[in-house]
Amino acid sequence: MVTKLAKKTAATGGGNVGGESRGKSGGEGGGEAVGDKVSAKASRPLALVTGASSGIGEALAHCFAKAGYDVILVARSADKLKALAGELKSRHGAAAYVQVVDLAVPGAAAKLGAALKRNKLVPDVLVNCAGVLSQGLFTSLSAATHQQMIDLNIAGLTAMISEFLPGMVERAGQGSRARILNVASIAAFQPIPSLATYAASKAFVLSLTESLSEEMKGTGVTVTALCPGVTATAMLTGAASANDKLGHLPAFMVGEVNDVARQGFEACMRGDVICVPGAINRAVTLGSRATPKWLVRKIGGLIARKAL
Ligand SMILES: NC(=O)c1ccc[n+]([C@@H]2O[C@H](COP(=O)([O-])OP(=O)(O)OC[C@H]3O[C@@H](n4cnc5c(N)ncnc54)[C@H](OP(=O)(O)O)[C@@H]3O)[C@@H](O)[C@H]2O)c1
Repeated sequence: MVTKLAKKTAATGGGNVGGESRGKSGGEGGGEAVGDKVSAKASRPLALVTGASSGIGEALAHCFAKAGYDVILVARSADKLKALAGELKSRHGAAAYVQVVDLAVPGAAAKLGAALKRNKLVPDVLVNCAGVLSQGLFTSLSAATHQQMIDLNIAGLTAMISEFLPGMVERAGQGSRARILNVASIAAFQPIPSLATYAASKAFVLSLTESLSEEMKGTGVTVTALCPGVTATAMLTGAASANDKLGHLPAFMVGEVNDVARQGFEACMRGDVICVPGAINRAVTLGSRATPKWLVRKIGGLIARKAL
């Protein structure tokens, strides 16, 4: 559900709840009206980043702002998004528009799309980074917990693509390139007992990305999957608080968030289909793809019983 389309704040000088509008105010449905001034930076390209309030999404928002993009920041935590909007403005001179949205709610992407349209905010890049993870044996997690992962990681992401891709294809037909960056995971490459629903949701993201990248050939739209390994973010901290072993992973197995985001950004800009940051992660994913499925399952089961 789109909960707020907030107003410019002097404190941040950024986008809505910290920013300028490129167009006229909208109003109902998407939340409050935005400012009525057309931004001086309307010629800058625009990237929409979901999951921008922390971790990899926040780092990706920095990458795009640093590269000269204005950004639409989407997540549920208004305060974090406002603070980020101010930082992107002061560090990179980017206009940042805050959109407080729960993307797991059916219809949220469509409401967000409508609110942006009313304000003439047309993203050139869509970054689907918002995601949740719950670890544990399938039967130890509630039905609601499984559903939450499906609602955000699968349904929310697909709805965002459905909302924004048709316009991207249309505009690309008129000469402007567009890009989608979907954040999957190395968990997408093999089943992972103890992370069954999460891994399945990321396998969906990877498969969808690969299919779309082929469908989009020749249209001017590229679709990239960023597949990070374990990365030091709030998601890892949360998983480690539920499972102590995850808090004691060797340092070489844990990616640095800015490095992961930079590699994803660069892959997206090149139009690569799959980006796996880190040599070890690349070896693991190549191994998974080259190994018979029954053996991958067995190894996954062994590792999960020992390490998770
Ligand atoms: N960290 C890792 O080890 C790792 C590895 C591989 C892949 N990934 C993937 O990377 C992505 C980012 O994760 P992260 O590690 O950066 O974790 P994070 O720091 O926990 O970030 C998750 C982001 O998703 C947003 N989000 C969660 N629920 C939402 C909802 N219902 N609607 C809108 N936004 C929502 C959160 O913001 P709010 O809470 O403010 O809504 C936050 O901005 C995820 O898709 C994750 O699966 C992470």
